[in-house]
Amino acid sequence: MLDIVVCVSGGGTNLQAIIDKVGSGEITGVRIAGVISNNYGVKAIDRAQNAGIDAKVVSPKDFETRQEFNKALLETVKAWNPGLVVLAGFLVNIPEEFVKEFKDKIINIHPSLIPSFCGKGYYGLKVHEAVLARGVKVTGATAHFVDEGTDTGPIILQKAVEVMPDDTPKVLQQRVMEQAEWEILPKAIDLFANNRLEVTDGKVSIKNS
Ligand code: GAR
Repeated sequence: MLDIVVCVSGGGTNLQAIIDKVGSGEITGVRIAGVISNNYGVKAIDRAQNAGIDAKVVSPKDFETRQEFNKALLETVKAWNPGLVVLAGFLVNIPEEFVKEFKDKIINIHPSLIPSFCGKGYYGLKVHEAVLARGVKVTGATAHFVDEGTDTGPIILQKAVEVMPDDTPKVLQQRVMEQAEWEILPKAIDLFANNRLEVTDGKVSIKNS
């Protein structure tokens, strides 16, 4: 059984998709050991508690320096001893020590088709605003391993989603979540947990079960 920690910042709909799919058996071999949020009072924490999962908040507001926050973040996650860390809408720059500690063991969900609309400044609703401003007709989501860069790690799964003429950023965000994120993030976790992901030269291949 693989213990995972899920890192969240807000609504927690991706966390909910993981909880539901562990419950339904669509994700196998996984136990959610803990959920960590960098923000107090977010819905994601309620979702974790409702599912009986240990949930903690480590907020930068409680620390004088970023270094102290980074240290507390790492220590809190390490205390759960996870084999995989999942960034499910975790809008925090992951410190280098964190990436080193969990090398090839961090998966992130990003709400665009990387390498489009990603990197510094592209997070949450801002991604969908940029997509609409550029007028692209197709967007989507990407599940990828996390390395030292921003959205630069090996890509595990992607799914395309159509952009509609009357979309607002919120409407598009919801469609990308429903049609792509809630599907490919749980799938990527299941593949990892069942030892089906292999990374070679920065590229992921999926092995047959
Ligand atoms: C999701 O759309 C996720 O892809 C995005 O934040 C949202 C969180 O929603 N993450 C990023 O932009 C990371 N760069 P949720 O809290 O309801 O899962």
